[in-house]
Amino acid sequence: MRRPATQLLGGLLALFWAAAAMAADLPRGQRLHDKQCVSCHAERYGGDGSGIYLRPDRLIHDRPGLEQRVAVCNKMTRAGLSAADEKNVSAYLEQRFYKFMPSDRPITPGINP
Ligand code: HEC
Repeated sequence: MRRPATQLLGGLLALFWAAAAMAADLPRGQRLHDKQCVSCHAERYGGDGSGIYLRPDRLIHDRPGLEQRVAVCNKMTRAGLSAADEKNVSAYLEQRFYKFMPSDRPITPGINP
């Protein structure tokens, strides 16, 4: 049986998660992404490079995977994004392109379309 204290903690954690997601700065994420990340993706996938996120066999299927990949590409290309900006870019990519299903992650009000 779950004890009320555990439930309260779970609720607080969920709230914290939602607040952290809402705090993401999407316009800043987009600016950084367009400046640091697009040219190389566009070279490979044409257009504005978004094909890399929308291809049927794309690599990323959930938010943790996305954050990890953004961190990898950030390091690999020495784009110099801070941890907070990695989150901003991830939030932007999720909202604009990936649109993961709610079952993939906690519900994040303000991010879900
Ligand atoms: C020097 C080239 C290059 C740059 C610059 C670059 N990437 Fe990538 N990125 C790649 C390649 C190549 C792949 C695909 C890897 C594969 O298909 O195995 C990729 C894949 C990705 C994916 C996964 C796409 C999928 O399949 O779902 C994400 C997300 C991503 N990059 C984010 C970023 C972000 C954020 C930046 C900027 C900080 C960035 N990339 C900069 C080369 C680059």
